[in-house]
Amino acid sequence: MAWTIGIVLGGITALWIAWNLTLDALWQPTDRLTLRRILFLAGVQPGEHVVDLGCGDGRIVVAAAREFDARATGIEIDPFRVLVANLWIQIARVSDRARVTRGNMYEADVSDADVVVLFLSATANFRLQERLRRQLRPGARIVSYYHPMWGWQPDVVGEARGGHPIYVYRTGDDLGRVAR
Ligand SMILES: C[S@@+](CC[C@H](N)C(=O)[O-])C[C@H]1O[C@@H](n2cnc3c(N)ncnc32)[C@H](O)[C@@H]1O
Repeated sequence: MAWTIGIVLGGITALWIAWNLTLDALWQPTDRLTLRRILFLAGVQPGEHVVDLGCGDGRIVVAAAREFDARATGIEIDPFRVLVANLWIQIARVSDRARVTRGNMYEADVSDADVVVLFLSATANFRLQERLRRQLRPGARIVSYYHPMWGWQPDVVGEARGGHPIYVYRTGDDLGRVAR
């Protein structure tokens, strides 16, 4: 019996890891200091809407709601991490202004976002760029940790713990002019 359970659990874990390897961005959580810098550099104001595309365990969503008093939404494709993120939202008592839903970030509607947070990959950023440029209203900010946006000029480049870059882009008429 114990063998059967072990084999089934091992099989599920192997499938889960294999499926994760097909994603454009693997799970790698942002450390606490860096995530505060990300939100600070984005200039998140109380009541603003922060969207984390590929939010993992929801740590940025929770911090945006709890420490910056923002409305925060996370989109995550992995159902296990969605479960964990919603647990953290309950524990942090921010369920009135934070939520994480399972979904594909390439299909997400971000038109209501004031700030979009990305910690993904060069490929994922490239695939998201046109959507962000089209949907976001002028004045919205895109913050990308580690990976720049192709052909866009950042307004600010901050430094994360460990020296990695944090790129901040403000949407406006000229955003993406180079990329188009
Ligand atoms: C590097 S982690 C970043 C997690 C979180 N934003 C953070 O900073 O701690 C990237 C996350 O993107 C998720 N992801 C990858 N492809 C996705 C997709 N198409 N739609 C939604 N989430 C995706 C992964 O499952 C992973 O949790």
